Amino acid sequence: MQEKTPDLDAAYSLKTPQDSVRLYADWAEDYDSGFAAEQDYRLHIHTARAFAGAGGQGPVLDVGAGTGLCSEVLADLGIGPLDAADISREMLAVAAQKGLYRRTVEADLTKGLPLAPASYAGVVSSGTFTTGHVGPEALDALLPVARPGALFAISINAAHYQAAGFAAKLEALAEGPIRELRLPEVRIYGDEAAGPHRDDTALIALFEKA
Ligand SMILES: C[S@@+](CC[C@H](N)C(=O)[O-])C[C@H]1O[C@@H](n2cnc3c(N)ncnc32)[C@H](O)[C@@H]1O
Repeated sequence: MQEKTPDLDAAYSLKTPQDSVRLYADWAEDYDSGFAAEQDYRLHIHTARAFAGAGGQGPVLDVGAGTGLCSEVLADLGIGPLDAADISREMLAVAAQKGLYRRTVEADLTKGLPLAPASYAGVVSSGTFTTGHVGPEALDALLPVARPGALFAISINAAHYQAAGFAAKLEALAEGPIRELRLPEVRIYGDEAAGPHRDDTALIALFEKA
């Protein structure tokens, strides 16, 4: 049973993929106009711009796409085609209404992605590799669906990066399946944000599949 009001604190307190399914089912309809607008959410903009700035091209898979905010920025930058994957049917339904996506796929990233190998020239993700959501092991689900040379721009909440062991995972991947790893740090929220998370940061893991 969903016991918590959908908000940032509830999102950071999630523990399992099923918790995400429940929380985001309740949050989907007002995620953009409530949370994203009120908290001056910027991470999707930084992630999409980092991808474009590094020369990213379509086809792109937006992982944990939610309501499609990151893909909206990609589309504005002329990048496509775009596909979306997310565990929440309700978030994907909001995203689909925006007409951004060639395809939306309901999938739990911690269990792999039901997509053909080597399908994508780019993979982006904003806000999904965060506290209470998915950890470094989920990176293993992303690599098979990318083509050799594909560009990744994956935001990772900075506190989660430390606590969940992303450094060791990325270091291990850099020994083989990935190359050209960079980790620029950005603010997740803008100057209009309030509350204890207003100065939270994320690292954007930018790398290529070897
Ligand atoms: C904070 S929202 C970010 C959505 C969007 N990318 C953005 O920047 O607004 C996190 C998203 O991750 C999705 N998610 C959480 N756990 C997941 C999992 N195990 N597999 C796939 N998606 C997941 C949620 O359903 C939600 O849409």
